[in-house]
Order: sequence, then C-alpha cells, then structure tokens
Amino acid sequence: MGTQAIATIDLPKLGRFTFRPAEERDLPAIVDLYNHYVLNDTSNFQEHVETVEDAIVWLKEQNSRNLAVIVAVKVDEHGNEQQLAGATCLNEGDPRCGRLVTEGSIYIHRDFVGCGLGKCLNDILLNAARARGFHSMIIHITAENTASLALAKKAGFREVGVLKEMGSKFGRLIDVTILQVML
Ligand SMILES: CC(C)(COP(=O)(O)OP(=O)(O)OC[C@H]1O[C@@H](n2cnc3c(N)ncnc32)[C@H](O)[C@@H]1OP(=O)(O)O)[C@@H](O)C(=O)NCCC(=O)NCCS
Repeated sequence: MGTQAIATIDLPKLGRFTFRPAEERDLPAIVDLYNHYVLNDTSNFQEHVETVEDAIVWLKEQNSRNLAVIVAVKVDEHGNEQQLAGATCLNEGDPRCGRLVTEGSIYIHRDFVGCGLGKCLNDILLNAARARGFHSMIIHITAENTASLALAKKAGFREVGVLKEMGSKFGRLIDVTILQVML
C-alpha cells in the first residue's frame, strides 16, 4: 500500500505531480537526483557522491526525528507514478535553539527545473514545518545559486547575512547567504 498523497498539482508546462512522504523505494532516484548536483553544481559544497545505503540510514533517522522528507513524483492521468522529479526535507536546526528552528533543503531533477515545481515543494515544506510546531526556518544558500535565492526571497525568506568564503568547490571560494522565514 502506497503512502497517502499530501497534494496533487497540475503544472502547465510539466503535467501532473503527486507530493507524498518519501519511502525507501524512492531512495535510488533521490540519490541519483542529488548526486547530479554534487558532481556538477555549487548548490552544495559536497564533492563525494551519496550512496543508497547511506540514504537508507538517513531516511530512518529523519523519520525517527519527525523531520519530513517529501518527494514530487510525475504521474499520468490515472495517477500512476512515472518519475521522481524532486525531493525536499526538513533538517535539524541548531540544537542549542531547541526545536524552534528547522532548516530546509529542496532539490529538483534537472529535467524539471524552472517550471514551478520548486515553488510547490517549498510551500509544502513550509506547511510540514508548521505542522511540526517549528517557529522559523533557516536556509543556507551558496552565493552562486541564483535560482534558489530567487525562490526563497519570493517565498518570503528574508536575507539575514552573508558568510564570506565559507567553502570551496571547483577551485572557487564561495560565500553563503543565510535566510530566515517566520512560520
Ligand atoms: C533551486 C531550485 C530548487 C528551484 O526550483 P525550480 O523548480 O527550478 O524553481 P521554480 O520554477 O519553482 O521557480 C521559483 C521562483 O524562482 C524563480 N527562479 C527559478 N529559477 C531561477 C533562476 N535561474 N534565476 C532567477 N530566478 C529563478 C522563478 O522565476 C520563480 O519565481 P516566480 O514564481 O515569480 O516565477 C532548483 O532549481 C534546484 O533544484 N536547483 C539545484 C539544487 C539547489 O540549488 N537546491 C537548493 C539548495 S539550497
């Protein structure tokens, strides 16, 4: 029996998507989606690819901490799942703040960027954070990540500072912008 959908949305350029909690069967596609950005992009500083085995451990930990992991799946007109198109999750905030603050992360499959899916996942993630009683959400965005900065600011995140040269990738030192939204 599949997990119950959180929402189903029709996007003009892309078709129909179901949003639901991630399951173990999604992990190979999530890892593949994420590793594309590890290897080709500065949206994160990570340089080693993730494995499905690590992701299985990660998903169990997320679930045990009630930190949502939600996927966007392309479906046909009958609701049959076709392809994983995006994933988002809540991350543990600074433990010194208790459980007031959470962090968020969104990754859209390269075939689906720029068509509104990130905005949908962001709205769903904010609702998931509210439902779990968090008071605010923080995100750290590398300064070269114009798409993520645009999405966050349009979604109501406020820039609270820029950390200079926080990491390096592909031979470049890169700043990190911190943004926060009150929930
Ligand atoms: C960042 C990311 C999540 C955005 O998702 P997306 O589906 O491509 O974005 P959307 O199409 O929903 O766009 C959301 C808003 O951001 C704007 N936007 C998206 N890409 C943009 C770009 N490259 N430049 C400027 N603005 C952009 C859109 O115009 C849109 O605003 P609108 O609603 O006023 O039209 C996605 O591109 C992605 O997964 N990137 C790689 C991984 C990553 O950077 N993750 C975030 C780590 S913090």
